[in-house]
Amino acid sequence: MAKIDSFSEGKILRIESVSPQYTHFIGRILGAQAERGDIFCLEGELGSGKTCLIGGIAEGLGIKEGVFSPSFIIIALHKGRIPLFHIDLYRVEEEEIRELGLEEYLYGEGVCAIEWAEKAKSILPFSCLWINISYEHSGRLLTFYPKGQRYQEILEEMKKIVSVRN
Ligand SMILES: Nc1ncnc2c1ncn2[C@@H]1O[C@H](COP(=O)(O)OP(=O)(O)OP(=O)(O)O)[C@@H](O)[C@H]1O
Ligand SMILES: [Mg+2]
Repeated sequence: MAKIDSFSEGKILRIESVSPQYTHFIGRILGAQAERGDIFCLEGELGSGKTCLIGGIAEGLGIKEGVFSPSFIIIALHKGRIPLFHIDLYRVEEEEIRELGLEEYLYGEGVCAIEWAEKAKSILPFSCLWINISYEHSGRLLTFYPKGQRYQEILEEMKKIVSVRN
C-alpha cells in the first residue's frame, strides 16, 4: 500500500513491504535515481530491514558486491556509478558523532546511506530523505519523509513505479 499524507516539509510516502526482496526493490529505485550529495537517513528497530534497503540502493547505483553490516565497521565505501558510503551508527554513542568526521562524506562526492541516522541529527543538513522502517503484521512499513525539493522529486518518481494499493 502506498499512501500520501501532507507534511509541512514535503509529502510523506508510505509503502508496505511484504518481503526482503520488495524492500530491496524499493532501495533499487532510490539508488537508480541517486545523485552525488544525496543523503538517505534510515531509522528503525534492530533487524527491521535498513541494511536490506541499502543493499537495494547499492544495486541501483550499479554496485555489484553485497552490502553487509559487519559490527566493527562504521563506514563502508562501495564503488558504483557514484560512490556509496554506507554508514552504520549502531555502535556509536550520540556524543561521539562529532569525532567521526562524517562531514567529509556528507558533503563529499558520493551518496550517503546512514543506519541509526537519528544519532547524527546534530550534524546532518536539513535536506535529507528520512526513511523509517517499522514492523507491521508479518512485513514492514516504510515511511519516507522528504526534507527538501530534491527528495520530493525522488518520491514522485517512486510513486510512478510502485503500485499503489488502497
Ligand atoms: N519486508 C521485509 N523487508 C526487509 N527485511 C525483511 C522483511 N521481511 C523480513 N525481513 C528480514 O528482516 C531482516 C532485516 O535485516 P537487516 O539486516 O536488513 O535489518 P537492519 O535494520 O539493518 O538490522 P540492524 O538493526 O541489525 O542493522 C532480514 O533477515 C530479512 O530477511
Ligand atoms: Mg543493518
